[in-house]
This record gives sequence, C-alpha cells and structure tokens, in this order.
Amino acid sequence: MTEETLKNITLPKHIGIIMDGNGRWAKSRGLERTEGHKAGANTFRTICDYAADLGIEYITFYAFSTENWKRPHKEVSTIMKIFRDYLDEANEREAENEKRGLRFHLTGEKKGLPADIVSKLTTLEKNSADKDVMTVNLAINYGGRDEILHSVKDIAQKVKSGELNPDKITEDDIEKGLFTAGQPDPDMIIRPSGEYRLSNFMIWQAAYSEFIFMDIMWPDFTPDDLDKAIIEFNKRNRRFGGV
Ligand code: FPP
Repeated sequence: MTEETLKNITLPKHIGIIMDGNGRWAKSRGLERTEGHKAGANTFRTICDYAADLGIEYITFYAFSTENWKRPHKEVSTIMKIFRDYLDEANEREAENEKRGLRFHLTGEKKGLPADIVSKLTTLEKNSADKDVMTVNLAINYGGRDEILHSVKDIAQKVKSGELNPDKITEDDIEKGLFTAGQPDPDMIIRPSGEYRLSNFMIWQAAYSEFIFMDIMWPDFTPDDLDKAIIEFNKRNRRFGGV
C-alpha cells in the first residue's frame, strides 16, 4: 500500500483471517494436501509481518479448528509439525519479534493439543507478553461455540461461589471469559477460497464484523490482497445497528 493510500484510509484495528483453501491449492497442482499447508504457513508468515508493518494492532489467524481433528492422521500430524517448526522459529527469532513488536497469544484450547506444542506456545506467549505493536492471536484447537462454552463455565463457577448474581450477568462478563478477553472485536474478517461461511470462527466477536470473501486460495494470498480487503472495508458503511 502506498504511503498516500495509507494516509487516506481507516485501518481496521483487528483483522480475523480464515486461512482456507490450502488443500485445493495443492490438489490443483497435483500435490499432496500437506504441501498446501506448508505453502499456507509461508503465506501466514508473510501476511503477519506485513500486517504489523501496516500498523494493524490485532490479527487473528484461524489455523486449526476443534473439528479439524477429524482429518486423516497424516494431515493432522503434518499440520502439528508445521506448528512445531513455526513455534521453534518464532521462539528463536527473538530479535526479529522484538523489532516488530509482535505479541503472540493462543486463542484456543490448550487441552487436547500435544504437550510440546502447548509448552512452545506458552514460552512464546511469555516471551512476547510485553510487546505492543501487534497482537497475533493463533486460533489453534479453536471453536467459537467451544469458546463461548468456556466462558459460560467460568460464569457458572462465579455464580456458584456467590461472586456473581445471575440477574447481573452482562455481555462484558461473557467477553471476559473469551480467549480474546480485553481485545477489540474484529472489524473485518477475511475468508479466501471462495467459501461464504464463518465455520465457527469468532462467532461471538463477529457480531458487527465486515466480511470480505475472496476467490483465491490462501497460499496465493499476498500483501496486495490484504490491501484490497482493507480498501473494500473502507467502502463499507458501518452503522452498528444505528442509522
Ligand atoms: C484450511 O485449508 C487450512 C487448515 C485447516 C490448516 C491451516 C494451517 C496453516 C495454514 C498453517 C498455519 C501455520 C501457522 C504456523 C500458524 P483446507 O485444508 O480446509 O483447504 P481446502 O478447503 O482447500 O481443503
């Protein structure tokens, strides 16, 4: 994006991205689906750095859903290896993260993930906790309904212990129990791959998000496509229920 364009637009504060189409990208090239995920991980790296350079404050990448465990074992284990390799790399590139000011945060259930991945994620979260340029939410083992359930259980515990009066439960109480607690809702959610669904992604937080659907596969997504999405977002008239 040129400096000039950047000056004349409103950047979304929080962008959600559903990284879809890796499998079809690979298939169309006669490759194994797992090759698509490897290419998708490279796109993730590029877009993450580009978003930080643009000045985006929060970005959430939907990397693995609670439903994705149903995929063939080989595919799941390759995706887990991609996460491992990326987390090692991110933990090792401390100086680069420092420079970019990336704060990493898992928005997903630790329970159910391999122990070594949880440990690498925890290290990354801990070492980047004081960075303040862009928060990168990694939605791994994530489901929107599961996230709301998580929050409801927290609330039920507080009601049980007498800390919270059921008549006084507010939307804020639900928000506090989400993995994105304290963060602004996504202004814009991008889904490439030509599918028009939310697929259980940030279903609470997406109440007023603008949806941008794009007809390209995630591995082909470039910084230029992010620019296009942001420009499209700027054409939308957001009313939040008002007039
Ligand atoms: C959806 O495409 C993609 C996934 C389920 C996995 C996404 C994972 C990555 C891109 C790796 C991210 C990496 C890091 C390091 C966070 P699909 O397989 O559903 O594609 P299809 O709809 O064409 O089959």
